[in-house]
Amino acid sequence: MTSDPFRLLCLPGDGIGPEVTQAALAVLEAVAPALDRPIDITHELAGGACYEVHGVFLRNETAQQAHEVDAILFGAEGGVGWDNLDIPGGPTARSSLSRLRKELDLFANIRPVRSWPLAIAQTPFRPEVVAEADLLVVRENTSGIYFGEPRGIFDREGEARAIDTQSYTRAEIDRCAHMAFALADKRKGKVTSADKANVMESGVLWRERLEAVHKEYWAHVTLEHLYADACLFDLVCHPGRFDVIVADNLFGDLISDCAAAISGSLGLLPSASLGPLKADGRRAALFEPVHGSAPDIAGRGIANPIAAILSVAMMLQLSFQRSDLAAKIENSVERVLSGTRITPDLGGDASTLDVADNIVADIDGWMSTL
Ligand code: NAD
Ligand code: IPM
Ligand code: MN
Repeated sequence: MTSDPFRLLCLPGDGIGPEVTQAALAVLEAVAPALDRPIDITHELAGGACYEVHGVFLRNETAQQAHEVDAILFGAEGGVGWDNLDIPGGPTARSSLSRLRKELDLFANIRPVRSWPLAIAQTPFRPEVVAEADLLVVRENTSGIYFGEPRGIFDREGEARAIDTQSYTRAEIDRCAHMAFALADKRKGKVTSADKANVMESGVLWRERLEAVHKEYWAHVTLEHLYADACLFDLVCHPGRFDVIVADNLFGDLISDCAAAISGSLGLLPSASLGPLKADGRRAALFEPVHGSAPDIAGRGIANPIAAILSVAMMLQLSFQRSDLAAKIENSVERVLSGTRITPDLGGDASTLDVADNIVADIDGWMSTL
């Protein structure tokens, strides 16, 4: 083992964030002996938990650490009392996640979605419709209507007007397009781009740039365009026909939660947010479940930890280049999902820690043979 540790910043956040993060770290600890570097983990507050102590959703010191580490593991943020605070400074002041995404330039949010045989019964869909689902949502993560200016609620006393601005530059679209094509090229070779080019100027440019990048660099990958509304319709009717779906920040957010229904639970969807390639060949990387802080079940120890655990698997794949370990963890998850000890979102009565213990026990089994 080299003496150069992998630096991980762990931000458990709010609600079920700390519960699922604890489970994810147990999995990381279980596979750590197979890695060639020790892992140095720092824990910090983020989101509402940070606001209560420090009056901000992310401390500057933590943002600085985020720049310096090799990866970030994020739990979830938000909750009643924090979501709608009228704090000046826009989205980066109101959300630790938005600040991290923007400041680290984590432009590509990759959200894999698959069907799990034993979770199919928990979906509202017929098995033959969802069984073939295996897709990636690539969501643009640092621009669009989340960050565009002007924004705000103006003339609150008179004729109040709320403004959000959807804005995209050519470069912002191009880098997201490249990411989607590169990922599709290693999978089934098909990109579906979702936009509203029929009503939005940003959609027109989005579609033009997808076409241009495709023609110049990725002509061997299939590209199709769908209007975002039709894309969501097709996603629930024929999920098996998708490979990589690329969409702007807002549409990508909606598409991924909808895709979670195909999977069986929001508690099953992991994600990776990546920055541009740096000179040393690395990218800033943040791994987190797609779901939020789930205030309705927080504190009860019943959150499904699998999204967070699979986010660790994505870290192993993308930050440690250990796709082998990521695949083995996914297999362990699949075996545990086939048992009866699953969390209530999937129809069971197991706790977060029960599921984590079972996955770790399965991992311990194959780790001892490596
Ligand atoms: P949510 O994802 O927190 O919950 C939606 C539903 O899914 C709830 O019924 C919840 O119980 C369930 N759910 C989510 N994760 C689950 C899990 N792991 N196991 C079992 N059930 C799970 O979305 P929401 O209720 O709209 O938002 C709650 C808060 O989270 C808000 O403050 C919102 O802004 C925030 N949020 C944060 C993130 C993030 O940190 N990445 C993502 C989405 C929402
Ligand atoms: C997500 C969440 C976030 C988003 C919120 C919490 C800012 O819904 O990560 O999907 O809308 O991007
Ligand atoms: Mn979301």
